[in-house]
Amino acid sequence: MTPHLPVSPSSSHHLLDAAPTPASPAHAQHRRRRRRRMCCAAAAPQPRVATGAGLRGAAAAATTRVFVVSDLHTDYRENMDWVLRLPVGGGGGGDGVGIDALVVAGDVAETRDNFARTMAALRERFGAVFYVPGNHDLWLRRENGRYMDSLEKLTALLDACSELGVDTGPRIIGDLGIIPLFSWYHKSFDKEKDVNSVRVPSLEMACKDFHACQWPPDLANEDEALALYFDKLNDRNQDAIEEVKKSSKQILTFSHFVPRQELCPEKRMLYYPNLPKVIGSDFLERRLRTIHDNTKHGAACHVFGHTHFCWDSVVDEIRYVQAPLAYPRERKRRMNGGDGWLPFCIYRDGFNPEIYPALWSDYYNKNRREPENTQLAPWVAKYFSKYY
Ligand SMILES: [Fe+2]
Repeated sequence: MTPHLPVSPSSSHHLLDAAPTPASPAHAQHRRRRRRRMCCAAAAPQPRVATGAGLRGAAAAATTRVFVVSDLHTDYRENMDWVLRLPVGGGGGGDGVGIDALVVAGDVAETRDNFARTMAALRERFGAVFYVPGNHDLWLRRENGRYMDSLEKLTALLDACSELGVDTGPRIIGDLGIIPLFSWYHKSFDKEKDVNSVRVPSLEMACKDFHACQWPPDLANEDEALALYFDKLNDRNQDAIEEVKKSSKQILTFSHFVPRQELCPEKRMLYYPNLPKVIGSDFLERRLRTIHDNTKHGAACHVFGHTHFCWDSVVDEIRYVQAPLAYPRERKRRMNGGDGWLPFCIYRDGFNPEIYPALWSDYYNKNRREPENTQLAPWVAKYFSKYY
């Protein structure tokens, strides 16, 4: 999600941040286990380094790998540098076999120029790049009147993708069908009890989308119209989706926004407890379920972004993954200060059984979700105690 909520200058936290879970003996053990797994992840395959034609050795020639990432936010120089440091020349055949592909689940950059620069750099580095738009991609505040509204900018971004050879529609890579899904959030996605013990800024104040995006009069962030509009955009890919469903053994769908509320920490854990009102779409979950309805066990995965919480969990037979690059300050809180962080390899001639290191989904794999409990988590209570 955005970094653009009011933050106290005296606080190192952002309102959207959710802090680590309370330290307990069990939690310490959990952290040790997680550290071990992060080491495994650090050893996960990296995008191939290629220095010319024929770089992929014979042994690697048939291997199809798919990496996932979201929330590149390359308006931050550190993030653009991160993209440019990825090895050049993933290459790949037109048949989609034996290549490295990258799935980018939205929020690439705030300006169209940075967006195009980023995608061009990624195309030099991966044999295929897939993309869906995020909210930041559709902001207009730094476009100097270039676009009438955010829908016009959306068209411009999709045109840029087409020129750069970035996929924004369904396609099969090796045995994997990859299906981008357009989406937008709606307030009614949030079905859980509100936290009323603290006063927080309104959505309009907290979420810059309400000002940085412009929509035609019949579309607005306030109701479900935008979420429905974006969901309907997927209808035009329906034939291609059916073709992918028929012809691929495994399917990866992806979106920028969150398809299920349980893929976000409970409100009491969040510095901005109203966050679930601006992150997800029920229409998205419904649509991805119709795509995965006949997929075999272990063959369905959905990648998302937006909240910047790393995630890897299975809900009702579908694996949900978020692997955000996120803001530089958020990355610094990761292992080794975020150094060496790479896109997650979700597929290597089959889905990667390695669980992506993700504190919150790890936590919920071991602890029951209690949305009826609105008592603030200690770190959130401490944060608010400074103001009330
Ligand atoms: Fe976002």
